[in-house]
Amino acid sequence: MSSPSENSSALNLPVKEIPGSYGLPFFGPIKDRIDFYYNQGPEEFFRARMKKYNSTVFRVNSPPGPFNAKDSKVIVLLDAVSFPILFDTSKVEKRNVFIGTFMPSTNFTGGYRICAYLDPSEPKHTTLKGFYLSLLDKLHKELIPTFCSSVSNLFTDLENELSKNGEANFNAISDKMSFDFLFRLFANKSSYDTIIGGNGNTNLDRWLFFQLAPLITLGLKFLPNWLEDLLLHTFPLPYFPVKSGYERVHAALRTAAAALLDEAEKQGLNRDEATHNLLFLTGFNTYGGAKVVFPALLKYIGTAGESLHHRLAEEIRSVVKEEGGVTLAGLNKMSLTKSVVWEALRIEPPVPFQYAKAKEEIKIKSHDAAYVIKKGETICGYQPFATRDPKVFENPDEFVAERFVGEGEKMIKYVYWSNGRETEDPTAENKQCPAREMVVMMLRMMAVEFFLRYDTFSVETGRLLLGSSVTFKSVTKATKQLFIN
Ligand code: HEM
Repeated sequence: MSSPSENSSALNLPVKEIPGSYGLPFFGPIKDRIDFYYNQGPEEFFRARMKKYNSTVFRVNSPPGPFNAKDSKVIVLLDAVSFPILFDTSKVEKRNVFIGTFMPSTNFTGGYRICAYLDPSEPKHTTLKGFYLSLLDKLHKELIPTFCSSVSNLFTDLENELSKNGEANFNAISDKMSFDFLFRLFANKSSYDTIIGGNGNTNLDRWLFFQLAPLITLGLKFLPNWLEDLLLHTFPLPYFPVKSGYERVHAALRTAAAALLDEAEKQGLNRDEATHNLLFLTGFNTYGGAKVVFPALLKYIGTAGESLHHRLAEEIRSVVKEEGGVTLAGLNKMSLTKSVVWEALRIEPPVPFQYAKAKEEIKIKSHDAAYVIKKGETICGYQPFATRDPKVFENPDEFVAERFVGEGEKMIKYVYWSNGRETEDPTAENKQCPAREMVVMMLRMMAVEFFLRYDTFSVETGRLLLGSSVTFKSVTKATKQLFIN
């Protein structure tokens, strides 16, 4: 929620009509979609309109439009002040808007509307989110040992690939590690020891792609834009091609996570519905998120160069030595490491879009004007602009490793990656990611494990369907080994 001072100062700003237009029915949304994917790309799509209307709040059609979304008209928010209205569930509804103006068929999720698609006013949201919050609370202590053991496999894979090929694709290695880590965390067993063997994550990749296709461009030179647009963005993709993979992971999880599902039943959840929710939690929320956040962190640390690597290594090794190992208390003492993680989440928020519908007439404000949003209108926040707002952050497009150190830590209230402020906590009544703390901890642990093992490393980076690609070119093993853990 916006702070009281932000709300009260909205009263003094001039109320302006929201600029922008939706164009002709059907053709307007298609034109905006083509601009978004092919003529301009997301950044330029928003930047050009922000300039044209001289406003960070305006009307436009959000992709994908027909025939995936019934209504693609949205009010876009692009600044740090207006954006947090999306978190205020007393004023906005979050029903079925988890990934945008469309929702994939519930065939992808066992016939159920999963927690992420429920509004907090729906009683099932409270039950499911409450279950997740208590689960994460219980798993808190197991996070570090489980992560450390999964990550040691990641390093083995990374070093083997580097010595074999002279470079290593971090994304593939990280995906494999993330999936197995989650399986171990939620099911207390390695996925390799189940019927899915080492292929769990590739089953999920296909399942994720079929749900997210309307939001993706492949960028293939041999595929004409019109054909890609027709195949990916125009009609919902069916479930049957990914059915067998989904069912395999579902069966493995149903058996391996039996104890957890017993607990869910005790909390009043239907066992079958709880299993599909747990799979979505593992495969979409967490694995989908991890696919993006780990490479982004390594990209920014990797390209920042040796001087940052030395400072991080020094901080991490001295705290770990003092604590006698990697501990939660120790992770909290690492101010540069913490700052680097928040900065990566700020500069490249892993989930760039957030959507909501106004429950009532709402008055919102940007830096320089107030606007009225009518009941039922859809709001779309494009987060990379809100967290790179030049009126809030100096050099907003630059990765500044120490941005959140010391006094700078106050600025984490403008880091919104979790669909909430970094200073606020998820509850059963709001729509903030229940794993806000866990994700930040996982990223800190990734940085810690890297600099316990290596002095420095070099990477090459690029873009993928979801997030950044990171290829390791070299690693320099730590000269002074810390014999801990
Ligand atoms: C790994 C990186 C992760 C990222 C980047 C991420 C991001 C997000 C975001 C942005 C939302 C809000 C979406 C919206 O409604 O607009 C969300 C919701 C959610 N996330 Fe995460 N998440 C991550 C990990 C996790 C993990 C580890 C869990 C659970 C163990 C989790 C469970 C959920 C659930 C259940 C929701 C829906 C919350 C609700 O309905 O109130 N996420 N996540």
